[in-house]
Amino acid sequence: MKTSKEIRNDFINFFKKHDHAIIPGAPVVPQDDPTLLFTNAGMNQFKTIFLGDNPAGLRRAANTQKCMRVSGKHNDLEEVGRDHYHHTFFEMLGNWSFGDYYKKEAIRWGWELLTGVWKLDKDRLFVTVYKDDDEAMGFWKSETDIPHERIMRFGEAGNFWEMGETGPCGPCSEIHYDTGDAATRERTFADPVAGVNGENARYRELWNLVFIQYNREKGGALVPLTSKHVDTGMGFERVVAILQGVDSNYHTDLFMPIIRELEKISGRTYKPGAEGTPFRVAADHTRALVFAITDGAFPSNEGRGYVVRRLLRRAARFGRELGCTEPFLHRLVPQVAAVMGEAFPEIKERRAHVEEVIRSEEERFGATLEQGIQKFGVMVDQCSKQGAKVLAGSDVFALYDTYGFPMDLTRLMAAEKGLTIDEKEFGRLMEEQKTRGREARRADEAGLTPGGWIEIAPCAGTTFVGYEQDRAAVNVCRYKAVENGEGGTAYLLILDKTPFYAASGGQVGDIGCLRTTTGKTIIVNDTIKWNDLVVHRCHADSAVIREDFSGSLIAAIEQERRAAIRRNHSATHLLQAALRTILGSHVRQSGSRVDASGLRFDFTHFKALEKDQLDGVENLVNAWILDDVKVDTVIMDTEEAKKEGAMALFGEKYGDRVRVVIIGGVSKELCGGTHVSSTGRIGLFHIVEESSISAGVRRIEAITGMESLKFFQRTECIVQEAAALFKTGRGALLERMKATLDTVDELARNHAALSAEQTSHKTGLILESACANKGALKWHVHNAGSIDKKSFGAILNGVSDAIRQKKLDTAVIVLAGVSEGAVMLAACAGDAAVREFGIHCGEIVKAASVKVSGSGGGSAARAQAGGKDPSKLDDALAEARRIISQKTKAAR
Ligand code: ALA
Repeated sequence: MKTSKEIRNDFINFFKKHDHAIIPGAPVVPQDDPTLLFTNAGMNQFKTIFLGDNPAGLRRAANTQKCMRVSGKHNDLEEVGRDHYHHTFFEMLGNWSFGDYYKKEAIRWGWELLTGVWKLDKDRLFVTVYKDDDEAMGFWKSETDIPHERIMRFGEAGNFWEMGETGPCGPCSEIHYDTGDAATRERTFADPVAGVNGENARYRELWNLVFIQYNREKGGALVPLTSKHVDTGMGFERVVAILQGVDSNYHTDLFMPIIRELEKISGRTYKPGAEGTPFRVAADHTRALVFAITDGAFPSNEGRGYVVRRLLRRAARFGRELGCTEPFLHRLVPQVAAVMGEAFPEIKERRAHVEEVIRSEEERFGATLEQGIQKFGVMVDQCSKQGAKVLAGSDVFALYDTYGFPMDLTRLMAAEKGLTIDEKEFGRLMEEQKTRGREARRADEAGLTPGGWIEIAPCAGTTFVGYEQDRAAVNVCRYKAVENGEGGTAYLLILDKTPFYAASGGQVGDIGCLRTTTGKTIIVNDTIKWNDLVVHRCHADSAVIREDFSGSLIAAIEQERRAAIRRNHSATHLLQAALRTILGSHVRQSGSRVDASGLRFDFTHFKALEKDQLDGVENLVNAWILDDVKVDTVIMDTEEAKKEGAMALFGEKYGDRVRVVIIGGVSKELCGGTHVSSTGRIGLFHIVEESSISAGVRRIEAITGMESLKFFQRTECIVQEAAALFKTGRGALLERMKATLDTVDELARNHAALSAEQTSHKTGLILESACANKGALKWHVHNAGSIDKKSFGAILNGVSDAIRQKKLDTAVIVLAGVSEGAVMLAACAGDAAVREFGIHCGEIVKAASVKVSGSGGGSAARAQAGGKDPSKLDDALAEARRIISQKTKAAR
């Protein structure tokens, strides 16, 4: 029986033999791709090469890549441990061609390795190709001896591989293995089409050959790449299972030593069926933890760290099923290092660190796990008493918040009891907690802590006089120096009374100034609420602070800013009333922000607003503004206010007496904010955006007063400039723009057609020149001069396609061109040119590129290079001619 180490080496040696560079795998924690939490495919590190940036001129590569599929597009977490062939961490064996060989070789070598080297039973193999990929279909038939009925076509879902939301992608061809009927291990051909690609236990995908030819851009567009590439990925653990003749990846020498160790630790015996799940989960997750932590991840509450934490907690909880109540995962680390340390020496080097991280994280979680499991039991009992099938979001949140149960752990435990969980509600509670956390952090950062205050006069609470007054004579009660976040000092001041509004209820804090009796000024940058006190965050000279706090000061807010805030706050109330009128009374505020530049209002509603609904809301608010409705405030008993229908914030705690803001018969809301005296003062109300912020919650952003005026002035300016640019009046402007775009489209289409025509004409000329060559070798060195990269690539493809299709086997073409100051060199040759004349395109372009201070290379049949010195292009071409002439002479 082959060991996993031998199997890994077989793969590497096979591709080494076929001229592949063996490139070390990338860390499983990506270093420089923010779109990825973990490396999830062998091709990740080659993404930029596929997209055209290949400075080292790499043509062929192979390796084993450490991968994790625990989040994002490729996520196998839920399956892990329950079946026998999914993992969070796994090795992907891969071979790559970067603009070098393509489908033919990829297919031929894939088959050769599986059936020739490893001697897999050909009767168990099936192959899939992308629905219209006749080329791959043809190569499977011509390059391998697979019976043709075992080649199947599938659509996008099965046979178009993508890295993620964006990135290189293309049609693929997969090799699947039929493990036989589960009970009898018999191989019957019951319904392979349903089986293959059906994600069942019987047919297993072994190897995916991707023919990369597009880049998926943001927004979904597929853009063809200039070169075509090969990207393959084979599930190492699956192949090992087959070659070791076992029915589970977990029963190979990759996992069994870990499982055996866990048997020793737990005193239980591993069984292959469902009872074995905890063993498999622990073995799988420990491997993932070891590799992720080795490569720099660390358990935490965010991103990558949270994935690591989740894995550990999931494994620890499964450990309980084996009676492991003490930390045990770290004790499996030495086995992981023993099994994998040779192929991945880094895990041996960092073993002590990894054990330590895992052990301390297990200890932290272990303390609450038991209680959490009990609590969960109580919740489930309650559910079943009520006949409910869904665990409440608040329960899931309590488990998360108090006992550190990740949502997917609770989901898994719930599923075991036949329950689902209210994920939406959980998400909402998480969001709320984040907001609370942010506010608490802000308070802390702002220095709102009890220590460090210098007391001038006793103070129980600050009286707010800012509803009526913009300025007032005040006294300083306490102050404190804090860091201002920019390396300087800020002062926090508490006054006996103040006209400054402290940020709350969505309305921002006031700014303004304090003037001392000696005529000095203290700038107030922000005003914050701290229990019953109002804290003024100030900037001042320290001398002023020390000398001038004995007497009273004049506190004055910035009036214009506050006036704008008043307009926006009152408009927010009108907006809520209008939304309830037009959309219905299910609309309730779920958040808001009011400042001088505009307002933001979040509310419960399930659909995006239609254009006419938005217009209706805007019109209604403006109608109320034009009615110039009086705005009153009264203080009243909270219960009474609610009884009278005053809108209150859901979940907000109010005191016994509350302030109610009443706008005529239009709106009545519990609110502590500052408002205009009548709606006419709001000015024009305009909605600038409507969007979704979470399921069932919409957001409207709007402006009022001078901001609206500025907005329309700016818009007017744009319209006028556009009209002048298009030499027309505003009435005909849109039509003129549309017509111009149509013209542009047409021109682009014509241009594309023309350049395609030109390319094919050029291609023809080049080949003609080659054929005019008297010798047996038909060759031509062509200088395309100044040319863009795309056209150059098109000519190269045209020439090489023609060589293949027209069977110009003895042709060799060298192309050169200059784009953006850089030299492009390429060569392609027919089979006979290579075989009989010893032509090697890689050699030719490499030698030629040296002349233009460049580098590159490729295979005998096709190669590409770049150079930095266009002034030496003639030398490069002469070099190419010299090499080719030598070959013709040698052949004679
Ligand atoms: N990148 C391909 C995959 O991950 C090979 O399946």
